[in-house]
Amino acid sequence: MGIGARALRQRVRTAESEDWDFSEGRIFGSMCTQPAPAAVAAARRFVTSNLGNPGLAPGTARLEEEVVAVLLDLFHGPAFGAGGWVLSGGTEANITALWMARNASRKREVVLPESAHFSFVKAIDLLGLEPRWVPLDDQGRASLEDARKAIGPRTAAVVAIAGSTELGAVDPIPALAELARAHGVPLHVDAAFGGFVLPWAGPAAASVPFDLAVPGVTSLAVDPHKMGMAPVPAGVLLVRHREMARSIAVASPYLSSPQTTGLLGTRASSAVAATYAALMGLGHRGYASNVRRVLDLTAQLLAGGRALGLRPAVEPTMNIVAFLHRNPVAVQTWMLERGWDVSSVSAPSSLRFVVMPHATRGTVAALLRDLGSALRRFPP
Ligand SMILES: Cc1ncc(COP(=O)(O)O)c(C=O)c1O
Repeated sequence: MGIGARALRQRVRTAESEDWDFSEGRIFGSMCTQPAPAAVAAARRFVTSNLGNPGLAPGTARLEEEVVAVLLDLFHGPAFGAGGWVLSGGTEANITALWMARNASRKREVVLPESAHFSFVKAIDLLGLEPRWVPLDDQGRASLEDARKAIGPRTAAVVAIAGSTELGAVDPIPALAELARAHGVPLHVDAAFGGFVLPWAGPAAASVPFDLAVPGVTSLAVDPHKMGMAPVPAGVLLVRHREMARSIAVASPYLSSPQTTGLLGTRASSAVAATYAALMGLGHRGYASNVRRVLDLTAQLLAGGRALGLRPAVEPTMNIVAFLHRNPVAVQTWMLERGWDVSSVSAPSSLRFVVMPHATRGTVAALLRDLGSALRRFPP
């Protein structure tokens, strides 16, 4: 350990140059993107600040309150009593939501769709929960009928997804929330990806409520570091009732606050500042134009894929397309050798593309050209 300043700089730059760069537009397998410049600039100003010790970070604490207020407004939280926190991402938000539900109910079962992100598998393991997996319908959404069979007196929480990781599917959230409410059980919505897409995705998306406007939805995860245009790491958890956090509060005697309610000790103030800058810098207009752009590019990719003989696994509702393919990993590997990052889904066996704001008409066209060559080798 220990090298000269020049050598150190060089090594860091070399490592940086080995990492993929969103700005080249060749990443179609990630849910992150090139963040808004104002968000990056804001994050840089807060790299030494720790919101985990809020007495030393009153400015960050105030920004966090503003972020939470703006997002409660966007996601239709109630006027009084709601709350939220800026966290490190969807994983932390999902674990925290289930942690609160388990402690408040002292029950162990979680009803969740088979499409749930693997962060829930971690939460289940860490919290000693028992999953009751709900199968999906042919559009990748949780089957309501099966959710009805899974819920019962031992249920601690129901989980619904607004924008599933693999297919971008949105569960029947109003019906699931009604079911959860009828059993007196909290419903957590994972909108880590969809939260910054659905509000601007047009009338079809707007007609299916997914957020705190739905009675029975008690918490919602949404990630600024995905479609929210903030740099990593930045997640948000919103709760209908601020007191829900009481069940996970622990004493924090050596810090400036007597109690702490989150999973982490040290918290990146940079996530708060970046999220604030992204939200306020882009505003509704910025997000709407971003979403319109990626949905147009998704339509271009869908049409191009169909022209190559591919069929989508489900009709896309947001900027994720999964094309059915019997050997997606072979195509993925072939594309990787040509400098493209694409991903695959195991069930249904598909090639998956996430069309993020760093994509352009040009990069989608170039991707389709190489995809055409790949498909001659590996037909769907
Ligand atoms: C729907 C959904 N939830 C949660 C997560 C986990 O988020 P993170 O990677 O920020 O922890 C993801 C990640 O892709 C996701 O797509």
